[in-house]
Amino acid sequence: EEQLDRIARLPKVELHLHFEGGAPPAFIRGLAKQKKVDIARIFNEDGSYAYRDFWHFLEVYEAATSVLKTPEDFARLCTAVLEESAKNGVVYSETFLSPDFCGGGDLGAWREYLQAIREAAEAAERDMGVTLRGVVTCIRHFGPEKAKRAALCAAETAGDWLVGFGMAGDEKQGKQRDFAYSFDMAREAGLRLTSHAGEWNGPQEVREAVEDLRVERIGHGVRAAPDLAVVDMLAERGITLEVCPGSNVFLGVYPALRAHPIDMLRKRGVKVTVSTDDPPFFHTSMRQEYLGLARAFGWDEEIFAEINRTALDAAFCDAATKEAVL
Ligand code: HPA
Ligand code: ZN
Repeated sequence: EEQLDRIARLPKVELHLHFEGGAPPAFIRGLAKQKKVDIARIFNEDGSYAYRDFWHFLEVYEAATSVLKTPEDFARLCTAVLEESAKNGVVYSETFLSPDFCGGGDLGAWREYLQAIREAAEAAERDMGVTLRGVVTCIRHFGPEKAKRAALCAAETAGDWLVGFGMAGDEKQGKQRDFAYSFDMAREAGLRLTSHAGEWNGPQEVREAVEDLRVERIGHGVRAAPDLAVVDMLAERGITLEVCPGSNVFLGVYPALRAHPIDMLRKRGVKVTVSTDDPPFFHTSMRQEYLGLARAFGWDEEIFAEINRTALDAAFCDAATKEAVL
């Protein structure tokens, strides 16, 4: 028990958090009411988000996001998200931001959203001691043309706060290589790269993200596990997996935490890290993720400390920021 307490209180580094996916349902409901948008269908009676499976989740996610309209809405969201992070002992977090949701891919509008979010993040850092950095994500099911606009927004605003580029969305649509142009543009602008792969598709998808997009991190990547050649490739190349165990179990990728491959991947030498993905949607938090893993696999404080070092190592921010947070 004491051991679990210490684990719950550890300072944590999170690499995989969808910004809008961090919105508490009450926050979205409140904005919807204020703006007179009817999205009652996305909530259960108890106020939680209502969806059947991952693909329905993506629809509900986009409906929830549709009430976030102005830069001020996103600034308020930033404060709400970071309050949760701070409560969970998170000291450093990277969040996925989508120009598609922040100004519809228009560069001028995107700059305003980014500025508002960044200011809110800097206030939260002063007030709550949690440091945030942004990773622009294109959305796979929106297609390669929209991805190019997202990449252009990312390239034009790349710097000490906007540190990466990635891809989220429906892995069953298109191929990783369809987005190579956007990932090349982002890389040339100095951005670091990550892509969702191996959450729904198998080992080949993970291999393609590494080989076709040349990413250094993978969102999820867990479905590489059945193919040890791909697992060993990840270990040899030092690719970091942004693993979201609670998300995977909630969405039915694995029947239970004990069946999750994170422990096997770690033992095989893959760099694994732990994140929440979309915490209110999946009824999770960083504390819960840590406690669940401690119970399922007997992980001790040492292992979690190592996981946090791995995460900070793989973080896209500069060295001075890393030194200041852990
Ligand atoms: N996976 C893929 N795409 C997403 C997610 C996710 O968990 N959340 C928001 N977009
Ligand atoms: Zn994700």
